[in-house]
Amino acid sequence: MYKIAVLPGDGIGVEIVPEAVKALQAVGKKFGLEFEFTEALVGGAAYDDGGHPLPAATLELCQGSDAVLLGAIGGPKWDNLPVELRPEIGALLPLRKELELYANLRPCVLFPSLLHASTLKEEVISGVDILVIRELTGGLYFGEKKREKTPDGGEQATDILTYSTYEIERIVRFAYQAARKRRKKLCSVDKANVLESSRLWRETVSKLAAEYPDVETTHMYVDNCSMQLIRNPRQFDVIVTENMFGDILTDEASMLTGSIGMLASASIGGDVGLYEPAHGSAPDIAGQNKANPLAAILSAAMMLRYSFDREEEAVAIEKAVGRLLEEDYRTPDLMEPGKKLLGTVQTGDLVAKYISSIGG
Ligand code: IPM
Ligand code: MG
Repeated sequence: MYKIAVLPGDGIGVEIVPEAVKALQAVGKKFGLEFEFTEALVGGAAYDDGGHPLPAATLELCQGSDAVLLGAIGGPKWDNLPVELRPEIGALLPLRKELELYANLRPCVLFPSLLHASTLKEEVISGVDILVIRELTGGLYFGEKKREKTPDGGEQATDILTYSTYEIERIVRFAYQAARKRRKKLCSVDKANVLESSRLWRETVSKLAAEYPDVETTHMYVDNCSMQLIRNPRQFDVIVTENMFGDILTDEASMLTGSIGMLASASIGGDVGLYEPAHGSAPDIAGQNKANPLAAILSAAMMLRYSFDREEEAVAIEKAVGRLLEEDYRTPDLMEPGKKLLGTVQTGDLVAKYISSIGG
């Protein structure tokens, strides 16, 4: 029996997470796995309920579970709270830190049926299969932040960017292991021409490269990488990078898959993995049955793969998603003329149905 903490969060989080749960339930039925789902509040919803975006009970639930399924958190309603109560800083970052989720995996894979859905040209994106591995518990996100008054009556703001050899080695080794299971190419992304932390990053990668002679190691500056990702994305296999660069590059890379609504993620490293779509809470479309639940559903597949070592079951979810797209069903973010429009709930229902009918 697998214990799963379910944290829908805010905005479209509360719409997409139930669809991912449906997919897991269908997998459970089909393959004889038992899941116990326990729901808890996080983010703005938790703040509204009890005054803090990460209640102790929610953190304890996560720590006592086998995996966490998270929707999305934050929204304009909570943007002006004191910084430590903002959903992102008060809940998401501490959750990542407390659970030691230092490795964030974001697979940018293009489902063939979505070749035309992207804003990018087909010949550029066809065959794209990139795994971005983002360091998730260090760097600017977790460095000291402060504001001071300046003598001219203005203010000065500081965010400190720190990385240690230990933190870099840990994520880079993780990335080498992942590259070994794929096409054996690792591109490390930094800004070593400007940043000291990036120079340490690059030196550390260069040293480790000798231990993985079977993997081809390259280095790329982050500005160049952002350009290369849309110029020639097929050159990449595994990309490893620090927290902030990974945040920015994965939003960009999501367009290689057609929509950010397709980008799943796994945050792992500690005892309990956390699975969440890479997109945000999308308050503009929340509550309208318009959100694409596929990133959340594909994140559930990653849970099966990385937390439970259930490859066959993970593939079953991915195949069901592939079938839905092949049969021309689309949520609004992926809609094109001639396709069939589906809402959030109907998409989740179909995926669950296709999972149940696999092999039959
Ligand atoms: C992501 C998100 C978060 C991040 C936000 C919500 C704090 O953009 O998971 O990529 O920046 O890490
Ligand atoms: Mg982001």
